[in-house]
Amino acid sequence: MSLAPPLVEFHDVTVAYGRRPVLWNVDLTISEPCLFGVVGPNGAGKSTLLKAALGLVPLAGGMVRLFGQPLERVRRRVGYVPQRETVDWDFPVSVMDVVLMGTYSRVGWLRRPAAAERAVARESLARVGLEDLADRQIGRLSGGQQQRVFLARALAQQADVYFLDEPMAGVDARSQEQILAVLSGLRDAGKLVIVVHHDLRAVTDWFDAVALIDMRLVAAGPTRETLTPDNLRRTYAGAIDVLDEVGRAVQRRSRTP
Ligand SMILES: Nc1ncnc2c1ncn2[C@@H]1O[C@H](COP(=O)(O)OP(=O)(O)O)[C@@H](O)[C@H]1O
Ligand SMILES: [Mg+2]
Repeated sequence: MSLAPPLVEFHDVTVAYGRRPVLWNVDLTISEPCLFGVVGPNGAGKSTLLKAALGLVPLAGGMVRLFGQPLERVRRRVGYVPQRETVDWDFPVSVMDVVLMGTYSRVGWLRRPAAAERAVARESLARVGLEDLADRQIGRLSGGQQQRVFLARALAQQADVYFLDEPMAGVDARSQEQILAVLSGLRDAGKLVIVVHHDLRAVTDWFDAVALIDMRLVAAGPTRETLTPDNLRRTYAGAIDVLDEVGRAVQRRSRTP
């Protein structure tokens, strides 16, 4: 029996923007390193759940623990890849600069990155297949390359728990495979990798466990037991209503002579 605390715990977490709650009473515990998917419709609160874990939004209620501790004490052990739309890609920095940022929590802001940090950054770039683009300005990369730069930054941080928000959105099939392979490698190296992802087929094929979210936690557990038609219906109920409406509209139109 292990006495180590769970890696990630949400206890009765509620988050509101202004006065509108968008996540209600989430209880979720992840004890073991694994590849963990967060799934749910647009606006379900998936990004908010990650931000709550990372201390990027205030909690209206409840508590988050990482490694059994408040985030402030374990920040260096936590890596984050934000959703791509939220990043300013015109910011004039090179690929290497971005990846070196991953080492700052170890280097300290005032010290120049030394050879050791550059070596870690270069090795991280090689793991995502971008070693040749180290000097390129980040705005001049394809979407898939941009996602992989942020993944390399997270790798360079050498964290124990990773949160990735749709790291495969808008990337080509080759980048997607490459990213999934890197994430599986992290899991195999004993890391917990939590990924917001909308491709249910990829989640089924690659992910060990999932949480289904629609403003509340609908279900969580091992992928095969949790991604059931019933749970999916409960998670996407709002979205399915929209589809029904479209379906009825199409039928009405096809009936009119
Ligand atoms: N900074 C914000 N201010 C106000 N509302 C927000 C903010 N960020 C997200 N929201 C709203 O909160 C809800 C959940 O958003 P989000 O967590 O981004 O969902 P998801 O990632 O599942 O698409 C949505 O209705 C969204 O419009
Ligand atoms: Mg989101």
